[in-house]
Amino acid sequence: MMVKVMFVCLGNICRSPAGEAILRHFVEKEGLADQVTIASCGIGDWHIGHPPDTRIREAARNRGIILNTRAKPFVINYLEEFDYILAADESIIEYLLKQAKTPDQKAKVHFMTAFSSTFKNLPVPDPYYEGAGAFDHVLDILEDSCKGLIEQIKKSKN
Ligand code: 4NP
Repeated sequence: MMVKVMFVCLGNICRSPAGEAILRHFVEKEGLADQVTIASCGIGDWHIGHPPDTRIREAARNRGIILNTRAKPFVINYLEEFDYILAADESIIEYLLKQAKTPDQKAKVHFMTAFSSTFKNLPVPDPYYEGAGAFDHVLDILEDSCKGLIEQIKKSKN
């Protein structure tokens, strides 16, 4: 059965597209690409249609990860359609829990770091107004989180 993962941040140009690309990278390495659907979106609409921020693209490219999505807005149907709705920080969690209609939908909402060994249930800090180091820090957090998430997905398939 297909597992469907949606990453959600504010602008969909830094944290969530990075999460999407990193998880896809790991999923492909593990040979699970035909079993996991991965996407991302933002709860703000300022950047719809834009590619990810150059700074996160460059930091990711240095790790061999290519970000090639375009920003799209969150739509309420994602809470039904996806299995894991992964939020960058508390404000995104709060927004998603307000949108969720049923206990089932609420139970799908987690921090992006929910399955991380090092950053478990910590926010992924918004790097937009920060220096270059902030983008690498986002990638460190997301790499560890996505490794944990893959293990969780594998377990859920057993
Ligand atoms: P993201 O980062 O939520 O990780 O995509 C941001 C992108 C844009 C803005 C804020 C955060 N903004 O204020 O435009």
